[in-house]
Amino acid sequence: MLSEKLVELINKQINYEFFSEHVYLAMAAYCADEDLDGFANFFRIQAEEERFHAMKLFDYVVEMNQRVIIKNSPEPRNDYESVLQAFKAGLEHEKSNTKNIYSIADVAMEERNHATISFLKWFIDEQVEEEALMNSIIKKLERIGNDSAALYMLDTELATRAFTPPIDTTA
Ligand SMILES: [Fe+2]
Ligand SMILES: [Fe+2]
Repeated sequence: MLSEKLVELINKQINYEFFSEHVYLAMAAYCADEDLDGFANFFRIQAEEERFHAMKLFDYVVEMNQRVIIKNSPEPRNDYESVLQAFKAGLEHEKSNTKNIYSIADVAMEERNHATISFLKWFIDEQVEEEALMNSIIKKLERIGNDSAALYMLDTELATRAFTPPIDTTA
């Protein structure tokens, strides 16, 4: 069972996750244009994760016998001054997404909707990881500074990131 308010909030979140997918795809395109293929791969995988998040929410709404409404995504930012700036924007994006998830969880708690509270736990944990990941790369990039050899080493490292969805997508 989902209240109208929760259906509306989760729908908003589905569309925000698709927007996030575009935000990271735009970052991947920027990095590819800078010949930083490892960073481009990192953001491409990040975009895949965002799509996975959107679909996980999508499946939940359908499972609850409610209607998903897909809307236009706003245009993401396509240009950055540096990869560091892109990662800083990524961190800010993740922070606002954490707030979104918390707001939905707040409503689920007010309504004592235990199924939704339990479902959202995965997203709450995921946001901790997302913010930590962005933070760790920002720290590395700040240490690297203008050292282009070190930047290419990190680029090589990020080229190995792969997308591995959990086997049970409803878990
Ligand atoms: Fe997400
Ligand atoms: Fe995210």
